[in-house]
Amino acid sequence: MAILIKTADEIEKMRVACRLAAEVLEMIAPYVVAGVATEELDRICHDYMVDVQQAIPAPLNYRGYPKSICTSINHQICHGIPSEKKLKNGDIVNLDITVIKDGYHGDTSKMFLVGEVSPPAKRLVDATYEALFLGIAEVKPGGYFGDIGHAIQTHAEKNHLAVVREFCGHGIGKNFHEAPNVLHYGKRGEGDMILPGMIFTIEPMLNLGKRHMKILGDGWTAVTKDRSLSAQWEHTILVTDDGYEILTLRGEER
Ligand code: MF3
Ligand code: CO
Ligand code: CO
Repeated sequence: MAILIKTADEIEKMRVACRLAAEVLEMIAPYVVAGVATEELDRICHDYMVDVQQAIPAPLNYRGYPKSICTSINHQICHGIPSEKKLKNGDIVNLDITVIKDGYHGDTSKMFLVGEVSPPAKRLVDATYEALFLGIAEVKPGGYFGDIGHAIQTHAEKNHLAVVREFCGHGIGKNFHEAPNVLHYGKRGEGDMILPGMIFTIEPMLNLGKRHMKILGDGWTAVTKDRSLSAQWEHTILVTDDGYEILTLRGEER
């Protein structure tokens, strides 16, 4: 499947869906504290999307996924399923939100620090955020998807962190996941050319230990094989005529 170029009308709908996804992360922030069960965070986000935003939580029933958001704690890389398990002091947790509004998807995630977090955990979370933004900075017409992966991999390796290879960013629009696969590693000039009107996510997952992962028995939760900590941040990006627009940018990032 070719990489779709969005029309002006589609771009406007993507702006709306992405703003809503960002607003869910802003809304939920005060609830992400020690003692809260991740299924409680899921319920609050679900009700906000459905009742306040009149939007659809994209993960719910997506390929059999049972909840409305993903909550990935500590050595969980991604796709953690909300449960009765409570967050505790020192945890790092990723909340990944995807909403569907007017038929279009907005996808974004951020790391939350629960109480006092260890220095290595903080370093991992910060370096992963920097890697996301170094990847985003490569987005411009005439560049290549490999430029994004290369920037992320270079920053990870400089910080002695490993890039998870089994998951990648993705084109997004009417479909949750569409072409291209946006790799978080690679070489400059590799892959497809980046063109105006493309919309895709960048969502690097970096580990304190080795890059290898496994999937738990629930069929979803990806964890580091060596049980080292993992962090992820995600934005949805529009390619403009002279660079990019971060469609899921939050107020705290402006
Ligand atoms: N939001 C994830 C992504 O960034 C996908 C989650 S799929 C789910 O692509 F089914 F686990 F929700
Ligand atoms: Co995504
Ligand atoms: Co996501």
